[in-house]
Amino acid sequence: MSVEEHRQIAKQKMKGKCGVYRICDGGDNKICQGHSYGSPIGFGGVGSGAAFKNNVSALTDINLKMRVIGEDYTPDTSYDFFGHKITMPIMGASITGVNSFGGDSVITEPAFCKATVLGAKQAGTIGWRGDTFTYDWDFMPCYDAICKAAEGWGVKISKPRDQDTLKKVFKMYEEGVALAVGIDVDGCGSTIMAAHNKPVFRKSIDDIKELVKSTKLPFIVKGIMSAEDAKAAVEAGVSAIVVSNHGGRVLDHTVGTADALFDVVDAVKGKTTIIADGGVRTGYDVLKMLAIGADSVLFGRDIVRAAVGGGAEGVKAFFELQQKTLVKAMKMTGAAKLEEISRDIIYC
Ligand SMILES: Cc1cc2nc3c(=O)[nH]c(=O)nc-3n(C[C@H](O)[C@H](O)[C@H](O)COP(=O)(O)O)c2cc1C
Repeated sequence: MSVEEHRQIAKQKMKGKCGVYRICDGGDNKICQGHSYGSPIGFGGVGSGAAFKNNVSALTDINLKMRVIGEDYTPDTSYDFFGHKITMPIMGASITGVNSFGGDSVITEPAFCKATVLGAKQAGTIGWRGDTFTYDWDFMPCYDAICKAAEGWGVKISKPRDQDTLKKVFKMYEEGVALAVGIDVDGCGSTIMAAHNKPVFRKSIDDIKELVKSTKLPFIVKGIMSAEDAKAAVEAGVSAIVVSNHGGRVLDHTVGTADALFDVVDAVKGKTTIIADGGVRTGYDVLKMLAIGADSVLFGRDIVRAAVGGGAEGVKAFFELQQKTLVKAMKMTGAAKLEEISRDIIYC
């Protein structure tokens, strides 16, 4: 089945949560954003949805420079993720909590985790997994998907829980030979975690240093939106940062992630791996993020739609389509390799 056919199935299944629109931008006319203050966030953005909208508009406002005269070539999209060669600089973001997109009748958490991790693996790339209040020592669908079903081929991002819990979780993933671990520092704003007796915290540079030292795996900090935080993460010794505002779900009125990415790249490029997400919907958006200076990019909500509509096969087909689009976009803008993509090809 095609990506579009998977999307049509997702549209039926996610009724009332996501309209699977041609443009997913958190606009006021969209189902996901139709809730009022105080209602569950569902699949939309926090509060007014401004941060969600800003993610999409920051990318839409960037245009590409077409450069088509020169030798013919087929662009190479292969990417090195901490020693693992993958087919594209595109991975699946850490998303959890199927209650946000319809609940168990739409897809169960274990099925969702497996579909995202295995679908990514089949496309030659990597699925990341997150953390939510339903997760506990006796319910670890991410662990089962990454360390059992995919034999370690995945990345685990935990919420910024207490240090001892995190160290214990990372040890398990290290023993399960996962590819990397980390925390979403922007998850410190989650009230639902605390409400379920799983408090989350802001993390200091020393806290992050302690976590980095606690594991042999590459350590990632996700949720960086400023040069200051990026420098602090580098000081803590992280292997990678993710420029992200959680898809506009944690703080209303942040700038779009593509806008924040300029500052972060200028501050720490070359000192750590820079990954970006937020509003990325196509291979063209991927190219824009790479042109600003990201090393690789994550897709969020689209991976949910692909998994709900087609399981692992849907996720695989989705990644393959984005890779194909990136190949075309690189060919039309004069880049044969990822290293050749620069700010020269964007207008903003
Ligand atoms: C329903 C939902 C649940 C999410 N859960 C998590 C999570 O558990 N951990 C995490 O790091 N990020 C989580 N995120 C954020 C995503 O990892 C990612 O940053 C975001 O979806 C990217 O924006 P996009 O959806 O516009 O592509 C979640 C996002 C959504 C939409």
